[in-house]
Amino acid sequence: MATPTTAACVRAASPFAGPQLRPPFRGTASWTRGPRKDGLAVSAAAAAGGGPPPTVLVTGAAGRTGQIVYRKLKERPGQFVGRGLVRTEESKGKIGGGADVFVGDIRDPESIAPAVEGIDALVILTSAVPKMKPGFDPTKGGRPEFYFEEGSYPEQVDWIGQKNQIDAAKSIGVKHIVLVGSMGGTDINHPLNKLGNGNILVWKRKAEQYLADSGLPYTIIRAGGLQDKDGGLRELIVGKDDEILKTETKTIARPDVAEVCIQALLFEEAKFKAFDLASKPEGEGIPTTDFRALFSQINSRF
Ligand SMILES: NC(=O)c1ccc[n+]([C@@H]2O[C@H](COP(=O)([O-])OP(=O)(O)OC[C@H]3O[C@@H](n4cnc5c(N)ncnc54)[C@H](OP(=O)(O)O)[C@@H]3O)[C@@H](O)[C@H]2O)c1
Repeated sequence: MATPTTAACVRAASPFAGPQLRPPFRGTASWTRGPRKDGLAVSAAAAAGGGPPPTVLVTGAAGRTGQIVYRKLKERPGQFVGRGLVRTEESKGKIGGGADVFVGDIRDPESIAPAVEGIDALVILTSAVPKMKPGFDPTKGGRPEFYFEEGSYPEQVDWIGQKNQIDAAKSIGVKHIVLVGSMGGTDINHPLNKLGNGNILVWKRKAEQYLADSGLPYTIIRAGGLQDKDGGLRELIVGKDDEILKTETKTIARPDVAEVCIQALLFEEAKFKAFDLASKPEGEGIPTTDFRALFSQINSRF
């Protein structure tokens, strides 16, 4: 069965397992940027030398991976000024957000403009979420059926909504966009495309292509099946063209995906790259700490 699985891709009822605290990873500054309209030059190197750290917006900040990225940004105030975008006030409350958490709908460009204003980097972690049709009884066997709410199909959320984010970020001169997508996109017949008639991987891939063609520095992370497990405990594996799906190691813990998003912001080696991401099982291999080496392994631009 190809990963990610249908079951893994619907919102789980159980709360996610929080990330473990681990030693901070060191990154190389890659924040040199041209002057903004206000003449301010921002770099992580500058941050290390007392200048302002780069402002990073994570969208889908109340989502299961997005909220880990948001928390990790906030845990590193010397390195980043973290911001979040959520869809509702309820989501904002859920992550304990203050003035740094904006409420907006990615399908509506005007509503996300305030969140994007003045950012240096964007981490996109929004996604259409299929819902299970009521009436499924696991004790009776069979498979559950899924649907997307009207207006929240992958075409609207994963294509238009991600395009809106990329356009908004480009318009203010953002210097790096990290986009989390999914493995499986090379196979038009992947089961995820059939889910709720949404063609979710097709629309996600279209947005990935749009980003890769944007001319902006980008990092596209195509994750394997996401697991709510602790992070920092496994050796990460990168690949391309869904080759990992043919192996036995095609899952990854959400906190590990979140950490890769953060690390991608720190290394030049992560820019202009698209890659599949999974991990070895815990106890096999050596937990990844050298992210420069990880990103250096990747040669694929799309
Ligand atoms: N599940 C898997 O096994 C799997 C495998 C590989 C890759 N992926 C991909 O990895 C990424 C992260 O997955 P996840 O499970 O952590 O995400 P998630 O929990 O499903 O979060 C998705 C977020 O997107 C937000 N969102 C949806 N529509 C929006 C809109 N119109 N405006 C603003 N925000 C909107 C949601 O907001 P609300 O909180 O308001 O609903 C939610 O916070 C996704 O791209 C997913 O497709 C998942």
